[in-house]
Amino acid sequence: MLTEIFIKNEEWASNINRMHPGFLSGLIKGQHPDYLVIGCSDSRVPLNEIMGLRPGEMFVHRNIANLVLHSDMNCQSIIEYAVASLKVKHIIVCGHYECGGIKAAMDFPGHCLIDNWLASIRDLYQCHKAEIEAFSHEKEKENLLCEFNVGAQVFNVCQTKIVQSAWKSGQKLTVHGLIYDLESGLLKDLNLCISNLDEICHMHKLF
Ligand code: CO
Repeated sequence: MLTEIFIKNEEWASNINRMHPGFLSGLIKGQHPDYLVIGCSDSRVPLNEIMGLRPGEMFVHRNIANLVLHSDMNCQSIIEYAVASLKVKHIIVCGHYECGGIKAAMDFPGHCLIDNWLASIRDLYQCHKAEIEAFSHEKEKENLLCEFNVGAQVFNVCQTKIVQSAWKSGQKLTVHGLIYDLESGLLKDLNLCISNLDEICHMHKLF
């Protein structure tokens, strides 16, 4: 059955209890994470682990290709809860190279349900086709679309009512765009930090 998972879980809990006594039991008091991270569901991108954050430090939403769609009530509810209730200080959209969702969106449709989910990335590809196709290698084209996609989702986060209301009320909140390189294990900052309404205008010209 799931023997391996239970064995590893017991090891994990006892290691934490030995090294940081009281840490786990302290978590029942509540959560006060500074970060909401929106990432891809890809099993090779364990967000907590790559960012070195412990339980309680990161609120997370993951879906295929780290999309923030205005029609996705799951993602929108998470942003609302994170901003309005948890008062996170940072929202990080974290994409990654080698993203299957990005590759599928550049491919011919034929993946059934997921084609609908990836439709906005196809649109993004069409918008930036000239810049993307200027590269000769497939990998470079995919990587660039991975980066454009992070930018587009940062923009979508900034366009939500909840984030804009937070800024209007003076709440400190910064939206960031990062990309994770599976090969090196390193995060790259795409320098798309947005901390107020004025900065969105500049973003609008990019995406
Ligand atoms: Co992915």
